[in-house]
Amino acid sequence: MSASVLACIPRRAARPNDPPIHHPGRRCPARAPPHAATPEACVDVVDSRQVNAPFPVSGDQAHVNENTRIKTLAAATAHAWDAFVIVVGMLKGGTGKTTSAWFIALYYAVVLDLPTLLLDADATSQSAYDWFKVAQAEGFDIPANLVVERYPFDDIAEYIRAKRAEFGAIVVDAGGGSAKLFHEAVTEANLLLVPVAPTKIERRKLVATFDEAERAAARNERDVTAHVVLVKADDRTSLPRNAKDKLLEPEKGEGIGPDRDEPFPLAETVIHSWVHYMEAFGEIPTELSEYAELMKELTA
Ligand SMILES: Nc1ncnc2c1ncn2[C@@H]1O[C@H](COP(=O)(O)OP(=O)(O)OP(=O)(O)O)[C@@H](O)[C@H]1O
Ligand SMILES: [Mg+2]
Repeated sequence: MSASVLACIPRRAARPNDPPIHHPGRRCPARAPPHAATPEACVDVVDSRQVNAPFPVSGDQAHVNENTRIKTLAAATAHAWDAFVIVVGMLKGGTGKTTSAWFIALYYAVVLDLPTLLLDADATSQSAYDWFKVAQAEGFDIPANLVVERYPFDDIAEYIRAKRAEFGAIVVDAGGGSAKLFHEAVTEANLLLVPVAPTKIERRKLVATFDEAERAAARNERDVTAHVVLVKADDRTSLPRNAKDKLLEPEKGEGIGPDRDEPFPLAETVIHSWVHYMEAFGEIPTELSEYAELMKELTA
């Protein structure tokens, strides 16, 4: 295993033929949503107009019967997506994983208009799913393209693989209690987000979290990138500034890499300590502000 499979993978510069950044999946949908990439920019594009068009009745094409048409359509739909998978995890409780997972899922569903799966994989508390049930019970308008499911099991990687073709984005709340489940989820991630509050006790758990993530990334067949996201930051205190310094210039033993002295890959966007986030549980917030900035930064 290389010294740092995760953190050292640079985010490469955009190339002229890259799909637009607002389309995070690797393929285009068979029926492109309004904000998805233009078909020309995508691989394996299936033009639904061709699939659904009546077949010509002359020449060889006349032999194409209704069965073939249905099979073609089914194949096109089955391969419509290869979801962008975001795992939100940190091997500690109460760091802001569920809140982050919900805001990020809403960003993909509402802002990017992608079919989005929010997977609550927290074996201990399952508050992401509770959030959904409460919002439903209280009559909030839940986006039709957002599916929320519980899957707090160790074979989560297999489950994510099975769901990739159905969604444009999959957001996993990996919980904080199971290193095994966290590891398995990271083996299927495109992006790992580790929310951490700017306090000593939270930062201490980062080393163990990144150790586990490195091991999982070595088994991940995609290019997975990882970012620490500072959450619950109160700029009236010195905590966020101190935490940034410690994360970017760690003392020996407090960083990542072979000698544990390399900086953590810290996102520039900071999620502040706002009542808006504290009170968001059980609601469908329409203001995603800092999380929208964060996802724009990390998927650019
Ligand atoms: N940006 C924020 N500012 C202030 N409070 C926040 C913020 N994000 C989360 N919180 C609060 O922090 C607490 C923990 O948040 P959350 O439940 O999202 O964390 P968690 O990591 O999922 O916890 P657990 O490990 O118990 O599942 C909650 O009370 C939540 O409202
Ligand atoms: Mg939680």
